[in-house]
Amino acid sequence: MSALEFANVSKSFGDVNALINFSIALEQGELVSLLGPSGCGKTTALRIAAGFETADTGSILLGSTNIIGLPAHERRMGMVFQSYSLFPHLNIRDNVSFGLRVRGVRNEARKKRADEMLDLVRLSDLGHRMPHQISGGQQQRVALARALAAEPHVLLLDEPLSALDAKIRVEVRDEIRRLNRDLGVTTMFVTHDQDEAMSISDRICVMNSGVIEQVGSPRDVYDNPASSFVAHFVGSINSLPKGNTQTLIRPENLVLTTHDQNAQWRGAITDITFVGAFTKISVRLENDDAPISVLAISTQIDHNIAIGLNIGINEAAQ
Ligand SMILES: Nc1ncnc2c1ncn2[C@@H]1O[C@H](COP(=O)(O)OP(=O)(O)O)[C@@H](O)[C@H]1O
Ligand SMILES: [Mg+2]
Repeated sequence: MSALEFANVSKSFGDVNALINFSIALEQGELVSLLGPSGCGKTTALRIAAGFETADTGSILLGSTNIIGLPAHERRMGMVFQSYSLFPHLNIRDNVSFGLRVRGVRNEARKKRADEMLDLVRLSDLGHRMPHQISGGQQQRVALARALAAEPHVLLLDEPLSALDAKIRVEVRDEIRRLNRDLGVTTMFVTHDQDEAMSISDRICVMNSGVIEQVGSPRDVYDNPASSFVAHFVGSINSLPKGNTQTLIRPENLVLTTHDQNAQWRGAITDITFVGAFTKISVRLENDDAPISVLAISTQIDHNIAIGLNIGINEAAQ
């Protein structure tokens, strides 16, 4: 039995089909990302699970119970949004215990639980501060603590890292993964960022225009994309002419060569970008208008290569 299941959920807003026969089942403790471009239906799916939006058709199963008719506050789902959404007039501890107060948990028990939760997200020293006195990353960890305080069956996270800058984003991302693992709480994580989805998920559900394109482990989705949409959305991919067709090859599966006169493809280098662990090289193929991007490990690059140089490209031996 799954922890959370969407079964044939559809939802339209006027003539926009936000979700079409959306079906996915999350195992207990699993972290599944909904990944797709803006407007593909990710938030709608979360809001329907949380009970903030009604589905036109289909069911939401929590364990074996269909919760589609239950009001949001009876669903035991913790939600965190992109904006920190803390109550500005309440201190951090009272923010964390707010949901418990609404549920009638007594003062002492509430305070104890809030402190446990702040401990869990490593913010025990900040309980007395007001939201504006802590950083964005800390506010988002408080929002996580608040969502977890009521011991939710499922954690629903809607682009919770989008408002944070790069370094903090990775820290909070790792924190979410740690909480998911340590607490075993089933988590649905929404993002439009493929790197984020790849690094945090047990499985990724790639969506496009209200439809699921593929569900699989990060490696599976990357190595065996089910559609051209998935191949292009998850990672970079080159579409290279081969005979009368095109073949899709990841940049890291191409090798540049300065001396193989019989290389599979030839072109001129149009751009070289040093990214740190690797260097990104763009090549404009002969007889082709669209430059293709090639990634190569920096140590493997001949230091003589330069923009304008003619170069051969081969598919790496698998
Ligand atoms: N309350 C609403 N009223 C009208 N259209 C909506 C509403 N909510 C979402 N939509 C539309 O439904 C589609 C899916 O939206 P959403 O689930 O927010 O996408 P995502 O979170 O993937 O960016 C979009 O075309 C959006 O404009
Ligand atoms: Mg959204």
